[in-house]
Amino acid sequence: MRTQVGIIGAGPAGLMLAHLLHRAGIDTVVLERRSREHVRQRVRAGVLEHSTVKLLRAVGLGGRLDREGMPHHGLSLRFDRADHRIALTDLTGRAITVYGQQEVVKDLIDARETAGAPIMFDVDEVSVHDPAGDRPRITFTDADGTARALVCDVVAGCDGFHGVSRTAFPPDALRTYRREYPFAWLGILARTPPSHHELIYAYSDRGFALHSMRSPEITRLYLQVPADERITDWPDDRIWDELAVRLAVDGFDLRSGPVLEKGLTSVRSVVTEPMRYGRLLLAGDAAHIVPPTGAKGMNLAIADALDLSRALVPFLSGRSTELLDGYSDRRLHRVWRAEHFSWWMTSMLHRSPDGDPFEHRLQLAQLRYTVSSLAAATSLAENYVGLPYDLSM
Ligand code: FAD
Ligand code: DHB
Repeated sequence: MRTQVGIIGAGPAGLMLAHLLHRAGIDTVVLERRSREHVRQRVRAGVLEHSTVKLLRAVGLGGRLDREGMPHHGLSLRFDRADHRIALTDLTGRAITVYGQQEVVKDLIDARETAGAPIMFDVDEVSVHDPAGDRPRITFTDADGTARALVCDVVAGCDGFHGVSRTAFPPDALRTYRREYPFAWLGILARTPPSHHELIYAYSDRGFALHSMRSPEITRLYLQVPADERITDWPDDRIWDELAVRLAVDGFDLRSGPVLEKGLTSVRSVVTEPMRYGRLLLAGDAAHIVPPTGAKGMNLAIADALDLSRALVPFLSGRSTELLDGYSDRRLHRVWRAEHFSWWMTSMLHRSPDGDPFEHRLQLAQLRYTVSSLAAATSLAENYVGLPYDLSM
């Protein structure tokens, strides 16, 4: 098999890159390890930045998003047993939209299938060869177990944190920066209307909790738990009791309901540099992970895909290598900004397991300053809605 861009991974990064390149007339093949059903149902992120929404609309993916997405103009920081609203839109002129990652993924898969462009699900034993040469190759087995090779002009590694693309870099061509946190997130999706019309990031004596949503009927909730927690230790009743305690303020009633989905997410910061080796380019979680507090991961993945698609068009037509040569540096500037914001939100809102009282008072001081200073609130808001970027294609 032969293609211009071989894309490993059908998450937001890989599918968006495939969509943008297809629109530019570039031939792509997407290879995905999991099944089509699995990828379409996988519950993960939910917050789209302002620019992500504009991009999705600009590339023909705004239909269902505009019908079903929920624009939000503010969020609450809940601490000292009270709500403190950050007026995102008043402070920045921009908003966020709550729309599940799996809905973005479904829209992208539907668009690709309607266009008749190839996605191969259920592939296995994926491996990248000769990334430094002119004709890199991807070998894999297809859904029938048949060994295949895909010869490419360029390989895009969009295969997430546990993917194989990074391993094709020679060890001395890559540097990894990481921070592990001593906690994880336990997330649930529940069939019950949201208990509040906006997101609530709660800092409590028992740890962090987050109230979010997916629709007027479906609530998404998260709890900080110890890093080595087992999901079996959290029956539904225990989750609801803990959420009720951590989210308690006067006049707030947490609505519980049937739990539709339950999962643990590790909390970590990772950046690998650079994001390019020869003709192998990394995008999204394959290159960087942010802790989920701040809702940046999917947005970064999609912004990587936009930049990479723009850089590949002149490169593949032989016009110029300049944009592709700058890809890694340009993206790493934005990645580190998001890393800082996500680390800052995480550090401000989670309780350390050893309950260090000095740290607790620093966190409260930071929270109180953030909600009482216009400058500090604006800084949170402009990072949360996403720093603007050039949307031209
Ligand atoms: P992925 O979505 O991980 O996609 C990679 C794909 O590659 C997968 O489909 C995988 O199956 C496939 N793959 C892996 N290995 C191989 C292989 N060897 N061969 C072929 N295919 C392979 N981000 C936000 O922006 N906002 C939020 O609100 C937010 N909340 C989150 C909440 C939770 C609970 C979690 C877990 C994450 C959250 N994130 C959020 C982060 C966001 O989900 C990720 O950053 C995003 O999925 C990254 O997209 P990606 O395409 O880079 O990687
Ligand atoms: C959601 C996830 C996040 O990580 C976040 O910061 C806000 C909302 C969500 O899944 O809705």
